[in-house]
Formats: sequence, structure tokens, C-alpha cells
Amino acid sequence: MIMAEKFYLTTPIYYVNDVPHIGHTCTTVAADILARFHRQLGDQVFFLTGTDEHGAKVAQAAEKENLTPQAFCDRVSENFIKAWKQLNISNDYFIRTTNPAHKKFVSEFIQKVYDKGDIYKAKYEGSYCIGCEKFVTETDLVNGKCPLHPADEIQKQIEENYFFKLSKYTKPLIKAIEDKNDQNHYQISPPAKKEEVLSKLKTGIDDLSISRANVPWGIPIPWDNNQTIYVWFDALLNYYTATKITDREEYWPTNLHLVGKEILWFHTVIWEAMLLSAGVPRPKKVFAHSFYMIDGQKMSKSIGNVIKPEDLVIKYGVDGTRYLIASSFPYSDDSDVSWKKFTEKYNADLANGLGNLVARVAKLAEKAEIKNPAKSGKITETKFKNYCEFLEKLQFSDALAFIWDKISRMDKEIDKNQPWKLEGEKLVEFLERVIPEILEISLLLEPFIPTTSIKIQKQFTAPTIKSEPPLFPRLY
Ligand code: MSP
Repeated sequence: MIMAEKFYLTTPIYYVNDVPHIGHTCTTVAADILARFHRQLGDQVFFLTGTDEHGAKVAQAAEKENLTPQAFCDRVSENFIKAWKQLNISNDYFIRTTNPAHKKFVSEFIQKVYDKGDIYKAKYEGSYCIGCEKFVTETDLVNGKCPLHPADEIQKQIEENYFFKLSKYTKPLIKAIEDKNDQNHYQISPPAKKEEVLSKLKTGIDDLSISRANVPWGIPIPWDNNQTIYVWFDALLNYYTATKITDREEYWPTNLHLVGKEILWFHTVIWEAMLLSAGVPRPKKVFAHSFYMIDGQKMSKSIGNVIKPEDLVIKYGVDGTRYLIASSFPYSDDSDVSWKKFTEKYNADLANGLGNLVARVAKLAEKAEIKNPAKSGKITETKFKNYCEFLEKLQFSDALAFIWDKISRMDKEIDKNQPWKLEGEKLVEFLERVIPEILEISLLLEPFIPTTSIKIQKQFTAPTIKSEPPLFPRLY
């Protein structure tokens, strides 16, 4: 049940080595839908997204472009800001890890963990995947390569690093996940992901190297300026530092971290342990979705199948894109998408389904010269219990199926009643039953397609209802 008055939700902060693509769009649009839904319910929302700007991967990308890392980050983070504006993303703040205030809070935090005795120096010998910015073991690799970054060479590293006593927190973390009454309890969702984390924790975990000796592009370790803080230690803290930077400390702890499945471990184990160590309250829930596959393949620059949000917007419009992302959201399994599937779905659900229904009813209302149209209502958890639960659990396709079921029932009712043959009072009576339903549909759709929903609400609550151009022109 949704009780939170304050609702703080986040997306991962994206690496600036890449342009925004459909994968980043997936998480950001999903978070935006939830943020708008909670605002609709009357919650006070803090919705955070941003960019992850330190580390070897970003430094390498900057070097390739012959730019200083800072100039490069300034340029690429702007691409993310623009992409989210274009998609009508309603984030309340955009955090960048190169923000001096963030850096200051990160230094203070790591110092606290050090002072507590949870950090020690030791020799690290092993492998590192720059693509993941992660230390890897043999079991993570397939034929000696990282399955997520097969084009990259795995680096061999031997260096003196600072280590965080992650293993010390194994038992408290298992208890916090399993025991709902534990004071540190947090949820991992969907359930299969929770099991995945628990079983890995139960096999035992090692301490974690949290500094780098040869990566100058990062925040210096406060007590040893020859090393920089491991990019993930710095990045995870964005969720906490953002509340301080924006003076929104009352929103802490986060209600929901929305992430992709490949970074589940960082958020459910490393992050929670860091906070436990520093004595900071823990986030309440982490949800990890799966991945988009493009035409059955992994999306990659070398295959040339990367789908960019601006290309989707050109073809389907802002709300069309948002709808297509939500309806194909990879809730638990990977979701296969393609331009062909998107166009079919757009035509079936938006051009024919919603668009056609709205156009039909508006035309009849114009003919009937309706005088006192209905008012827009409100979404309440009691009235739309199932729908609200679907949204709360990020089961977008179920929430949308609930709405489209309403749409098709209305279509059937119109076909049955043949209102185009009705005149005068009879037509008005019919429309007075149908228009409130259209308004209800538009309210339910507001988190998904906000501009279109408001357009429908304005159209059907105006003093005279008029036919308008199609909401979603058919694509061929
Ligand atoms: N910088 C880290 C996150 C730090 S959070 C403290 C990072 N950045 S990333 O740019 O690689 O973005 C990863 C995220 O993008 C995934 O967790 C997921 O949210 C999204 N996606 C990237 N590719 C994706 C798909 N193919 N499909 C769906 N979402 C995916 O990791």
C-alpha cells in the first residue's frame, strides 16, 4: 500500500562515456511514470536522476575526444539533460558527480567509514572490467571476456588499495533482507532478484577495494592523496549527497532505487553496507528491471542496432515514445523490442485504440452540442486498487492492460448503441455516460502520457466540446 507522504525515487546516474540510448530511457521513463503517479496521489515527490562522471572509463572517453575530462563531462551530461527534457521527464534535480558539493560530502563520508575502522590498506591482485568499472573474478568471465563488454580487454591489476570491510556486513545484510522486522530491513524486487542477492550473499563475500592508485580522474582519498576513491563508492553516494545539496534532507532515506539488473549487487549489497558502516539510515526498496534486447540481440555500437530516444521521438512523438517504453518495460525478463514491433503497437493501441475512441466521442459530442460537460475527477487508491498496485510494483503492462480493457469495452458499447443514429436527448444521455469514462481513462494515463492526457481533459471539460486533429496519426 502506498502510504508515503514523501516519496524519494532515483534512477541510476548514467556514465557520460556514452550518448543516451533506449536502455537509459527505459529506467528514466519508468521512474518518471512512478514520480508522476505519486504526485497524482498527493505525495510530495523528490525524483532524482543524473550523470556518473568519474573513473577510468570516462577519462578514456575524454582522451579519445582530445578533451579534458571535465570539458568532456560538461558536454555529455548536457546530452542527458536535453534528452530527458525532450521526453518530458519531471526530475526535481539532476546530479553530477563532478559537482564540488557532492565531492565534499563523499570525502566526509569515506572519512567517517575510515575513522570507524572499516577501511584498511592491502595489496590487490586481480582483474578489472573498465566497461563495468568493476573488479571481476574468473566466474564473471566468458572466454576471458566480460559478457557485458566483450569488446573490452580485461585489465590485470596489482596495486596497493584501500579496502572496505564489506564481508563484515554479510550477516547483517542477510538479516536485513530476510527479516521484515529487522530495524535495517529493505526490500529487493522483483522476488527472483531478491533470491539472487541472498544466495550470493550466503556463499560468502570478500572485502572490496574502494580506491585506485592509477586513476587520477576521481575524488582523492582524504587521508592519502595518491589514491582516488573507487568510482562506484563515489557514484552510489549521489543519492545521499543530492538530498544535502538540494536541502531536501527530510526525504532521506530513499523510498525506491530503480536500477537495471546488472547493477543490482552494487545497490543491494555494497551501498547498503556503506550506509550501515556510516550509521546512515538505509533505502527502503531497490527494484531491478531486466534489459531491452533489440531484434533478439544485445544492443551495441558495433552491431549498429542502438536505438536513441531522439529517433523514437521523431517517429512516435514524446507521448508515443513514453507509451512504447512503458508497455515493453522489461519487468522481470528481458524484453525484445524492434522498430517494427513499436510501430505495430503504436498503431494498434494509440492510433486505433485510444486515438480513435477519443475522436469518435468528440465528434458525437460536437454534434450533440453538450452544454455542461463532466469535470475531471481524481485517482484514488480505493477506487483503482488493482491499477495502483500494478503501478506500485512497476507492472506497467498490467496497468496499461487494465486501461486498454476499459477502452475496448467502451468501443464495444459504442458499436452496440450506435450513437451516430441517436438524436437529441438520447444522444446527450449516451454521451453523459461515456464522457466521464473518457476523462477517467485520461487520468489513469496521465503518468504515462501526460501531455496527451491533459489535452483530452481540456477537450472534454471545455464549455463546448470540439473534434480535434488525431492524437496519434497512424503510421505506415
Ligand atoms: N554509472 C553506473 C550507475 C551508477 S548508479 C549509482 C551505470 N551507468 S550506465 O550508463 O551504464 O547505465 C546503466 C543503466 O542503464 C542500467 O542499470 C539500466 O538502468 C539502464 N540500461 C542500460 N542498458 C539497458 C538495456 N539494454 N535495457 C534496459 N536498461 C538498460 O551503470
